[in-house]
Amino acid sequence: MDHNEQHDSEHVPTKRKEMSRRQFLTYTLGGAGAFMAGGVILPMVRFAVDPILQKKEASGFIKVIEESKITSEPMRVEFQIHQVDGWYESDPKLAAWISKGDDGQVFALSPICKHLGCVVSWGGESPDEYHCPCHGAKYTKDGKTLKVAPKSLDEYQVQLDNGWVYLGPIVANTRVK
Ligand code: FES
Repeated sequence: MDHNEQHDSEHVPTKRKEMSRRQFLTYTLGGAGAFMAGGVILPMVRFAVDPILQKKEASGFIKVIEESKITSEPMRVEFQIHQVDGWYESDPKLAAWISKGDDGQVFALSPICKHLGCVVSWGGESPDEYHCPCHGAKYTKDGKTLKVAPKSLDEYQVQLDNGWVYLGPIVANTRVK
């Protein structure tokens, strides 16, 4: 064996991994397809979850009546709120029975009966009590349940500012134990 032959036999050509035409097309089309699908799907996902991503507005208080008009006799006051629920915006009308307690504090009761959700009224057939026309529930001026309803009337959170009464979110009654 001469020198050249020995050299040739030692020289093993390194294998180059070449991509076949089929693989190249598969990768290229797959990548382009994934890119286009992402362009379509991501905005849809974003659109679907957008209300969840939105920061909730701080629950606002609504100016409803001058404080000077509030006495110890409950007064029905109607007001409107703006509410956003996901994609749905609405301006429902709400009502409250507002009065001053024996402690002189202004408070506001929700008129929604805690039995099955009818609307209660003050006075009338039961002076000095709230009554519900549906099944006869009765409540004290502080909203304490006297009969039929399992719970006392809810309360609005109240703020007083510059001679005005502002009502906020509805909470469980804090005046009765
Ligand atoms: S809903 Fe008021 S008593 Fe039933």
